[in-house]
Amino acid sequence: MTELMEQLRQATGAQHQILEKQAFNQALLNQNLPLQAYIAQLQQYCLLLDVLESCLDKQAHEAVGQIWREDLRKTPWLREDLDFFQTRYELPALPATQDFMHQIQHLAASETADLLGVLYVFEGSTLGASVLLPLLQKNYSFEQQGTAFYRAYGSNTRPHWQAFKAQMNQLTLDATQQAAIIQAAQQSFTHIGTLLEAIYTAQPA
Ligand code: HEM
Repeated sequence: MTELMEQLRQATGAQHQILEKQAFNQALLNQNLPLQAYIAQLQQYCLLLDVLESCLDKQAHEAVGQIWREDLRKTPWLREDLDFFQTRYELPALPATQDFMHQIQHLAASETADLLGVLYVFEGSTLGASVLLPLLQKNYSFEQQGTAFYRAYGSNTRPHWQAFKAQMNQLTLDATQQAAIIQAAQQSFTHIGTLLEAIYTAQPA
């Protein structure tokens, strides 16, 4: 059987391509994303990842226990960035964030390993972040501060991803469990697309 991580890559590849071409990410790549949109993404991600991480903390499923570790937690980076911008509590959760939060809570309530599909998407996003980091540093003239989330694991990003991949592939999961994780990852890509679209279109012209 094809390894879980390869299945996830194949099942979400088309969605990833669409996400890369989306206006928010194109603006990041073209170094013309308004700073407020960049901060709004960090803010909304912080709200989301707070929910995801606390659900993962509580999830008793064996497979989640085998994967979820302290060093995968991303809210400390987001809090560091938001402290720098001094805006953490300024915005409420957007409807798209609320929908995604409800989805995460729904998956958590099922007491399955499905949340690993959501984790896969955010973990994988550290790879794209290392491409985007120098661009946003240049665009906003940032040195180090305000970019902790996009710095992620720094020079350790690729090895960190390889280790995550190996651990995910070692899980003992049947085809039904794997399919549910893949579906959760696909739904996460859809939610993130909707959220980034909402943030981008909310910016003043
Ligand atoms: C312009 C924006 C983006 C760029 C340029 C980008 C770029 C990349 C790159 C270069 C990789 C590594 C591909 C490889 O080595 O095989 C990657 C992987 C990945 N990215 Fe992105 N990315 C972007 C946005 C996102 C976003 C917003 C998310 C989700 C929040 C995301 C999720 C992922 C995932 C899950 C993977 C792992 C794919 C796999 O299973 O191998 N990316 N991305």
